[in-house]
Amino acid sequence: MTPALQVESLAVTFASDRGPIAAVEDVSLRVAQGRTLCVVGESGSGKSVSILATMGLLDPRRATVRATALRLGDIDLLNLPADQRRALNGDRVAMVFQDPMTSLNPYLRIGTQLTEVLEVHRKMPRALAATHAIAMLHAVGISAPTQRMRAYPHELSGGMRQRVVLAMALLCQPDVLLADEPTTALDVTIQAQVLQLIRDQQAQTGMAVVLVTHDMGVVAHMADDVAVLYAGLVVERASVGDLFAAPRHPYTRALLASIPATESRGHRLQAIAGTPPSPAARPPGCVFAPRCASAQALCLTTRPPEETLAADRTVRCFRHAELAELAELAERADG
Ligand SMILES: Nc1ncnc2c1ncn2[C@@H]1O[C@H](COP(=O)(O)OP(=O)(O)OP(=O)(O)O)[C@@H](O)[C@H]1O
Ligand SMILES: [Mg+2]
Repeated sequence: MTPALQVESLAVTFASDRGPIAAVEDVSLRVAQGRTLCVVGESGSGKSVSILATMGLLDPRRATVRATALRLGDIDLLNLPADQRRALNGDRVAMVFQDPMTSLNPYLRIGTQLTEVLEVHRKMPRALAATHAIAMLHAVGISAPTQRMRAYPHELSGGMRQRVVLAMALLCQPDVLLADEPTTALDVTIQAQVLQLIRDQQAQTGMAVVLVTHDMGVVAHMADDVAVLYAGLVVERASVGDLFAAPRHPYTRALLASIPATESRGHRLQAIAGTPPSPAARPPGCVFAPRCASAQALCLTTRPPEETLAADRTVRCFRHAELAELAELAERADG
């Protein structure tokens, strides 16, 4: 089946005074209709840049974006004229950022901002657009939605603002929703509600969701599939079940082992001692080798390729098979 969104070998380089910065080196993501892909990884691993590049939102004067494929369903985004591509944003593909004010205009009533989406993308007359907007505000759990239409963003709480942004993103029933830590700034109860709203909408419309999160609790709750990013590379990609039951990359393993069961919520991923390499100083071998307890000589000199283990299961580690065997032996010895 054609994925709702397909990103193959995405690379993003920023121009800087000190030379090019390879923020994203090689990221491939696939999400099927009706499914949720969670993208996890430490700060600076390239999650946001990958999402922004996928949306075509990076400034072409500063960022060079390359990919072998970038497809929204049957639409080839790589070869689409810029204006046609922009027209897809907010329509076939929508995005929610961590900070709702990124998407809201502080000077406009939320009703104006919501109806505008439908007027622009659906050429809907204003009155009809307003009816739809009110229904969507209701759907995302905003009480007295008709009155709220007249509110300015600053008159709403953070949780409400994020619901409004979600309503705006969902208005055109996008095929794909890209959400970059949409609930990180919210308290735990509101976070759970907003995530549930995404799931509800997904169940109704079959949209595909890409959810960037630091929170493995959210991953366990939301993901069908997971992509683990490290230093601009997808180091492992698997179904959520496979990933939790049998992680193949040492980084993923460390990540999962480091989560205290009761404290996983809201915690920034800080799995292992040390920090990831900056894009300007990536090691020549495996990007994780300097922090990896299992690294050997080859790992320090050569980048491991992305190896496909099964449909939609990949890993980037020379020693994954050997280490999996060892892990299994250790488990048997324990049991
Ligand atoms: N406009 C830019 N110019 C130069 N470098 C950038 C730019 N935007 C991001 N970067 C660099 O690209 C790398 C990836 O950044 P990105 O924001 O994608 O990380 P992230 O995984 O989203 O982190 P976080 O969890 O903190 O949100 C970082 O090293 C960052 O400093
Ligand atoms: Mg980010």
